[in-house]
Amino acid sequence: MASFRIWCVISLLTLQDFLANGHSVPGLYVFGDSSVDAGNNNYLNTNAKANMFPYGIDFNNHSTGRFSNGKTFADIIAIKLGLPMSPPYLGISKIERYQVTTGINYASASCGILNSTRNGDCLSMNQQIEYFTSTVINDLPRILPSNTKLRHYLFKSIYLISIGSNDYILNYLKNTMGNKNIDNPEDYANFLLNQLASHIKRIYDLGARKFVVVGVGPVGCIPSFIIRTPQSQDCNEDINQKVKPFSDNLPGMLQELQAQLLGSLFVNVDTYNFFMKLRNSPEKFGSINMVDSCFVPGAKPCENRKQFYFFDFAHTTEVVNHLYANECFGGTQLCFPLTIKQLVHAH
Ligand SMILES: *[C@@H]1O[C@H](CO)[C@@H](O)[C@H](O)[C@H]1NC(C)=O
Ligand SMILES: *[C@@H]1O[C@H](CO)[C@@H](O)[C@H](O)[C@H]1NC(C)=O
Repeated sequence: MASFRIWCVISLLTLQDFLANGHSVPGLYVFGDSSVDAGNNNYLNTNAKANMFPYGIDFNNHSTGRFSNGKTFADIIAIKLGLPMSPPYLGISKIERYQVTTGINYASASCGILNSTRNGDCLSMNQQIEYFTSTVINDLPRILPSNTKLRHYLFKSIYLISIGSNDYILNYLKNTMGNKNIDNPEDYANFLLNQLASHIKRIYDLGARKFVVVGVGPVGCIPSFIIRTPQSQDCNEDINQKVKPFSDNLPGMLQELQAQLLGSLFVNVDTYNFFMKLRNSPEKFGSINMVDSCFVPGAKPCENRKQFYFFDFAHTTEVVNHLYANECFGGTQLCFPLTIKQLVHAH
């Protein structure tokens, strides 16, 4: 409770700061899956939870439900924006919900763009947007009663969306293995992107303008899909070819949305190609192990967690989340056509 009170004070200070200075970002709202879940799944009936050791071993050894040893990409972006880490929507009380003015995290592990993507209970993108609607309609007006100020606040905030991998891992790839009669990869990617676009339009209609959208990475390169022989550890290229059209076609979809939605701005986080750059020349980025997991269930986690790309079977370590956040904030190799720093100052 004490820490919540302190954080509320910070929250109010940030709000005053924002009202006094139109250039800063007042809030970070997060939508997505386990890549950015900050603990929503702790409150759901599912096995897709990360609220046990060794998750959080470098988060003061506190297992919050984040699927990493430490902070997620969303956490680090919040910190870089001068904001507290956005708390999980299901982890805060109703009263707390309308005191938070620095952003909320609706992300939920094992969910996806499609309603049908799930593995146990989770918050689909649709459900996440329903919660966000409640934030905008019921909660924020209590602290920002002036309609003009609320609109300004929503315009200036940033909306981070990191979703889509599970629409492949828990949906499409399973169906292709089951030999079901399904779309080819190009059609499936375009179907997903259309659905994602309509989700984004709903968020825009509620007042959002500045979006950061994370693409689907090369799923065939996660430790559970890597093809291992005594001589080699190769990505599963069959899987990568099925997944790649999503990230190939995402920038075009975002450009179209930007042209369509007045005042909107989009940053595309090109994880697919950035991962490949890392994998092809890891020495440029500090020689990180990109094929093994730092920990597997039942064994002790690795000691040298700064030298691993993957913390578990699929999720990234904090050091990698820092690398992505730094690159997207001010670098030239990951985020297009704007960096987050440029997005902050745009308009
Ligand atoms: C971290 O937490 C785990 C589980 O609660 C505990 O077993 C371990 O000793 C703790 N490590 C440190 C360094 O406190
Ligand atoms: C997803 O589910 C919600 C709520 O059940 C429904 O309103 C929505 O139309 C569904 N979306 C699709 C694309 O089926």
